Amino acid sequence: MTRLAGKCAMITGAARGIGLAFATRYRAEGAQVAICDIDLARAQAAAADIGAIAVELDVTDPASIDRAVARVAADLGQIDILINNAAVFTAAPVVDISHDDYAATFAVNVHGTLFTLQAVARHMIDRGIPGKIINMASQAGRRGEPLVAVYCATKAAVISLTQSAGLNLIQHGINVNAIAPGVVDGEHWDGVDAAFAKLEGKPKGQKKAEVGAGVPFGRMGTADDLTGMAVFLASAEADYIVAQTYNVDGGQWLS
Ligand SMILES: NC(=O)c1ccc[n+]([C@@H]2O[C@H](COP(=O)([O-])OP(=O)(O)OC[C@H]3O[C@@H](n4cnc5c(N)ncnc54)[C@H](O)[C@@H]3O)[C@@H](O)[C@H]2O)c1
Repeated sequence: MTRLAGKCAMITGAARGIGLAFATRYRAEGAQVAICDIDLARAQAAAADIGAIAVELDVTDPASIDRAVARVAADLGQIDILINNAAVFTAAPVVDISHDDYAATFAVNVHGTLFTLQAVARHMIDRGIPGKIINMASQAGRRGEPLVAVYCATKAAVISLTQSAGLNLIQHGINVNAIAPGVVDGEHWDGVDAAFAKLEGKPKGQKKAEVGAGVPFGRMGTADDLTGMAVFLASAEADYIVAQTYNVDGGQWLS
């Protein structure tokens, strides 16, 4: 199928994991894709594999965002679709949260999401492009967790930004929506498992096994489980969908 034929997509944090699955599926659906990541070497290797372009991007740095947007627009012609996917995870008991960790996590997950969205929305408005912007939220943004206060707060902020930006930008024909995954296996969750091993004294792999068993579907998600929603929200079939966050989580969160 080529539901995104002729479209140009910029995907942040796409050198690995869910972002790379989105990039791979978008290529299969006929889109041109820019893999934008702070890890340029890995972005280049991934881009070579799937026929995308690789662009260095640090979403915490406004100048880097402007450079990356200009580069993607120049190399692909324009940007029709943005997936704001880059994020970092952190976990700590509330009494141990440090200012530096709080600032670094908000810088990627919230600042990065808002100002990449802003830069791409400006490009879309300037060129009169009826664009699609997809933010990556999380079930962590639906409900707090005892050891994950900062990451959960960043993802709640992403859901809120999706609502405000969606309501503000639809007048320009730009749809802003979000995907809230549950627990998706991969390198991100390897890090989460390691963090919980330290914080809760669990053996390696136990946290993953516990969360997987708790998913109503019966297992953790895979990155590929999310790509259908990412294609749908980027397609013309989603033109009337505004400011929503969709759970793709095997039944974890009901809303
Ligand atoms: N994996 C899960 O269980 C899960 C669950 C819910 C939501 N999510 C969200 O889905 C998205 C993708 O998750 P993932 O599991 O693929 O994560 P991941 O950690 O595997 O990949 C994140 C990517 O972001 C890049 N990145 C980090 N900091 C960056 C920066 N400053 N600028 C640009 N790129 C940067 C990394 O290099 C990496 O390639 C994230 O927004 C995450 O919060 C993941």
